[in-house]
Amino acid sequence: MQIFLDSTDTKIIADLASTGLVDGVTTNPTLIAKSGRPMLEVIAEICDLVPGPISAEVAATTHEAMIAEGKKLAGIAPNVVVKVPLTRDGLIATAAFASEGILTNVTLCFSATQALLAAKAGATYVSPFIGRLDDYGFDGMDLIRDIRTIYDNYGYETEILAASVRHVAHVKDAAIVGADVVTIPPATFADLFKHPLTDKGLEQFLKDWAGTGQSIL
Ligand code: E4P
Repeated sequence: MQIFLDSTDTKIIADLASTGLVDGVTTNPTLIAKSGRPMLEVIAEICDLVPGPISAEVAATTHEAMIAEGKKLAGIAPNVVVKVPLTRDGLIATAAFASEGILTNVTLCFSATQALLAAKAGATYVSPFIGRLDDYGFDGMDLIRDIRTIYDNYGYETEILAASVRHVAHVKDAAIVGADVVTIPPATFADLFKHPLTDKGLEQFLKDWAGTGQSIL
């Protein structure tokens, strides 16, 4: 499973990318607003930091305007993925992008039938928002499971990008049910490394090693 960061914080992205474990980055208008920086500049900087897919979201709502914005975003760098909302116009734009070889991430997906349409439109990625579904009393993971079944039934190549991830258990469950990618906030990425038994075990090993008086180098 690929791991993307859901962030526009270029300092944090640079730091986490240095682990070699970050495959791509997703952004959205809220994250751009949080950065307080011009969108085109931030996306260009992220594209330099991470060679993998970088999602940049259109702000238009008509397919004509989405296509114009998407082409501009795609021109920033070859690894830009144009993110479009899962609306009727968004899917028309997605099909247009697909016919021109422009990569797309269809976002704000909340149902399996929406995901089916995204695949039919030729989306590169579809982003089911699992945390926001959980917030409303649904099980976001059921949606990922349903999309996996539908895509496998018909051989759709659209990749399932589990989004709106809130904690480590979401990452584990998304991997178990077969999401292709998970996009996670930096804090959740940091949590993936942690386990109290690792800390406890390492503390004991270091103590015992120090007691030997030895040195490897
Ligand atoms: C994904 O592409 C979205 O940017 C993101 O995962 C949304 O997450 P949120 O529900 O925490 O805002």
